[in-house]
Amino acid sequence: MAQFKVLIVEDEANARAGLAELVASWGYRTETASDGINGFDMVQRWSPDIVVTDLMMPRMDGLQLLDRISELPHPIAVVMVTAHGAVESAVQAMRMGAYDYLSKPIDPARLKSILRSAGEQISDSPVPRPIAAETQDRLGPLVGSSPQMQAIFRTIERIASTNVSVLITGESGTGKELAARALHQLSGRRHKPFVAVNCAAIPETLIESEIFGHERGAFTGAQERRAGCFELAEEGTLLLDEIGEMPAPTQAKLLRVLEDHKLRRLGAREETTINVRVIAATNKDPQAAVAAGELRGDLYYRLNVFHIVMPSLRDHAPDIPLIANTMVEEMNARHGTSVPGISPALMSRLEAYSWPGNARELRNTIERAVILAGTERLNVAHLPVNFGEPMPAAAARKGEPQPATLTSAPAADSHNLVQVSVGTTVDEAEKQLILKTLASTRNNKTRAAEILGISSKTLQNKLKEYANDQPATAG
Ligand SMILES: Nc1ncnc2c1ncn2[C@@H]1O[C@H](COP(=O)(O)OP(=O)(O)OP(=O)(O)O)[C@@H](O)[C@H]1O
Ligand SMILES: [Mg+2]
Repeated sequence: MAQFKVLIVEDEANARAGLAELVASWGYRTETASDGINGFDMVQRWSPDIVVTDLMMPRMDGLQLLDRISELPHPIAVVMVTAHGAVESAVQAMRMGAYDYLSKPIDPARLKSILRSAGEQISDSPVPRPIAAETQDRLGPLVGSSPQMQAIFRTIERIASTNVSVLITGESGTGKELAARALHQLSGRRHKPFVAVNCAAIPETLIESEIFGHERGAFTGAQERRAGCFELAEEGTLLLDEIGEMPAPTQAKLLRVLEDHKLRRLGAREETTINVRVIAATNKDPQAAVAAGELRGDLYYRLNVFHIVMPSLRDHAPDIPLIANTMVEEMNARHGTSVPGISPALMSRLEAYSWPGNARELRNTIERAVILAGTERLNVAHLPVNFGEPMPAAAARKGEPQPATLTSAPAADSHNLVQVSVGTTVDEAEKQLILKTLASTRNNKTRAAEILGISSKTLQNKLKEYANDQPATAG
């Protein structure tokens, strides 16, 4: 298990600092608080594994703090520090559920052994620790209460403060980039840049200069000296997206940079020392990519110090209502709409669907529905007519190889495109065209009518028609 978090609660400043230093020197993450009230506040914000608290403190003493902590649903080991000879309070603390007690002056060897055994007990505990409120804030739009997502949040929380590389894998649209941003936000690097580079989107001839930078005159056309992504991300975090698409020579160079923390711009004599946390992401199976010779094995091992696997949306379908409702709020804010929520009938449809495009597809569906609904509750009428039918891309994914662009940007492509196949009625095609145009104008009806070349009145009538011709069970 990764580092445990130990909160030290002690009113006397020197004792507090000394204790924190001692505990940190044993490899624990530490925080401090000056009394029980601050201590409990810290417990809620930081979610420590172990609390070492003094008994006698102003405002709220150690026993009161223990009492508050024991009401929490998850286990935290509380170690009570009592005055020399205060046997009675020690006994009371143990009765109230303290993990152990120590008397002052603290014997470091005994504290060390108590912390070690408390840590072992926590590792064995079947009840997982909740996500700290601070973490929740910094996770941004990434939400989910399923065990899968909670486990991911805990991993992100645990490894954010380290500097080692992280590999994030998962299907397209599962939130890999959001996870990378959360790692950055939860690290000490959060006030420094987060730079994301999509290796699949850069032509092979430019990728090295893009990532490592170049000197003036390094190659034909290099008229200016240019910093690469590594330098732009200095002291921050660099996300190398679609790492499997990086050309082999660039992969070799990257490996060296990761090993030496030094890079040489194209055409430069000197090396530059860099301090960048590297996160790599891919929607391919990395081991298969290694086997296929697309990803260097040594680079894979170097990146894969920690591996986060983002589950596909259908594998954590119970999160769909929470994610969908969060997205409704996000879209209300973005489009100035006031959709109050999602009807039960629509929610059942959303929960039953398999979401091949994962959370991104859900987000696009919600965005479109929110624009259409404006102020109404979302209902089945706000789904696209062909909702749930397999997309051609999804069918292709099973068998034939497909161009890389299909997997990297399906959402962007379909956004402004009306696809009508033979067999569609004119009315149906018209409806799709009107709705897409409306979505593209962000629900500006006047503008949409202009683009469509119809009067606002006709547009209003059409929209009324569409709202009425839906199944009576809707919403
Ligand atoms: N757990 C989640 N909760 C809420 N929104 C999510 C979640 N996961 C993903 N999203 C949304 O889905 C969209 C796609 O997320 P993101 O760009 O991080 O995916 P990705 O895995 O990097 O996809 P790709 O492989 O295509 O690059 C984003 O708009 C994000 O807001
Ligand atoms: Mg991505």
